[in-house]
Amino acid sequence: MPKKNTPHSSLLTPHSLLITGGAGFIGANFVHYWIKNYPDVQVTVLDALTYAGNKANLAPVENHPKFRFVHGDIRHYALVLNLLLDQEIDTIVHFAAESHVDRSIHGPDAFVETNIVGTHTLLKAAKAAWLDTPSAAMNTQTSALGPQPSPYRFHHISTDEVYGSLSPEDPGFCETTAYAPNSPYAASKAASDFLVRAYYKTYGMPMTISNCSNNYGPYQHPEKLIPLLTLNCLEHKPLPIYGDGLNIRDWLYVEDHCRGIDLILKKGRIGETYNIGGNCEKTNLEVVHTVCAILDELKPLSSSTALFTSYSSLLTHVKDRAGHDRRYAIDASKISKELAYMPIETFESGMQKTVQWYLEHPEWCKNVMGENYKKWLAQNYS
Ligand code: NAD
Ligand code: DAU
Repeated sequence: MPKKNTPHSSLLTPHSLLITGGAGFIGANFVHYWIKNYPDVQVTVLDALTYAGNKANLAPVENHPKFRFVHGDIRHYALVLNLLLDQEIDTIVHFAAESHVDRSIHGPDAFVETNIVGTHTLLKAAKAAWLDTPSAAMNTQTSALGPQPSPYRFHHISTDEVYGSLSPEDPGFCETTAYAPNSPYAASKAASDFLVRAYYKTYGMPMTISNCSNNYGPYQHPEKLIPLLTLNCLEHKPLPIYGDGLNIRDWLYVEDHCRGIDLILKKGRIGETYNIGGNCEKTNLEVVHTVCAILDELKPLSSSTALFTSYSSLLTHVKDRAGHDRRYAIDASKISKELAYMPIETFESGMQKTVQWYLEHPEWCKNVMGENYKKWLAQNYS
C-alpha cells in the first residue's frame, strides 16, 4: 500500500494513477497532459475499447516507460481490485462512460450498465483496496493534529447535464444547483455522482467530483457536434443541426478541462464538487458557422470541385433531439476562487487548433469513420 504522501499535507501527490476510459476523447487528452507534465508518475489506463475507445488515441505515449494499457471493463470487480493492489494505485481518475446523449436515447441499457454499475464496481474495489485493510485503519486514525489526510483519491468525472436545462435568463449551474437530468445519459451520470457522494458520506471514500461543460479538441469521436461538422464539411456532406439550432452549450477546450482536473486532484478538498466551464456560451448555429469559416480559410472550396463557395451552404436543419436541453452554462466561481482556475484557450484559438488537428490527421479520421460509424449515422439521421 502506498503511504508516500506526508501525513499532515492537505495536498495530494499522486504516485500511481488509474485512468479509466483513457482511450476515449477526454481520457486520452488527460493521459497526454499528465505524462507531459508528470513523466515520473506511473499511469495505468483501463479501457474496454468500446466503439468510442481507440488505442490510436494513446499511440504517442504507448512506449513511455511509466505508461501501461489494460484492456478491460470497469464492471469487472476482480480485475479492478487486482489492478489497484498490484499497481499500488493511489489515485483513480474515472472517465470511463457511455457519453453520447443521442445513443442513450436509442439504447439506454449500456448507460445504466457502464455509468452506474461500472462506477459502483470501481467504488467497491477502491473501498476494498483502500479503506478495508489494516493499513487503511492506521491511515484514518486521528492524532492530536486531527484526522490524517488520505493518501488516496477517487476523482469522478461528471457533466453539467446532470443539472438539466436553463432558460435564457437563468444564472449558470453552480455546485448547489438541484439535479434535474433529462436524458438517459444525464440520469445515469447523476446516479453515478450520487453513488460517489454516498461512498464518501457512508464509508469515508476520499473523493472529489468535477461537473464539466461541453469539451472540444483533438481525438473527439465524430458522433459529437464539432468533429461531425468538420468531417462532414470535408466530405461535402450536409451539416445536420437539430431543431432551430439555437440550443446553447458552454464550450471548453479539452486541455483546459485537463488542467482543471489536475488542480482538483492536487488541491481540491475531499468530499467536494467543482464545476468546470469555459465561460463560453454559443448557440449551435454559432458553432457551425465558426467551423465553416475556419475551413473556408484553411481548405477553401474550389469552384471546379464544389457547387458552393462556403461550407456553410451545407447547413441543414433536421428533426430535433428528443428532450433536447435548451441551454447549459457553468458558474465556475468556486474552482476559480478556491483553486485559481481559469481556462486558457478562447473559443477562437481552441476551434482553430481543433479543426487544424482533424485536417492533419486524415488516417485517424478514416479509421473512426468505418462501418460501425456509418451504421450509427444511418440509425440517427435517417
Ligand atoms: P468517450 O465516449 O470519448 O470515451 C469513453 C471511454 O470509456 C472510451 O474509451 C470507452 O472505450 C471507455 N469505456 C466505455 N465503457 C467502458 C467500460 N465498461 N469499461 C471500461 N472502459 C469503458 O467519452 P468522453 O467524451 O471522453 O467523456 C469522458 C468522461 O467525461 C465521461 O464520463 C463523460 O460523461 C464526461 N464528460 C464529457 C464531456 C464532453 O464534452 N465530452 C463533458 C463533461 C463530462
Ligand atoms: O455538457 C456536457 C456534455 O456535452 C457531455 O456530458 C456529453 O458527454 C457530451 O457528449 C456533450 O453532450 P451534448 O449533447 O451537448 O453534445 P453533442 O456534441 O452531442 O451536441 C452538442 C449540441 O449540438 C447539442 O445541442 C445537440 C446539437 N447537435 C448535435 C449533433 C451530434 C446537432 O444539432 N446536430 C448533431 O448532429
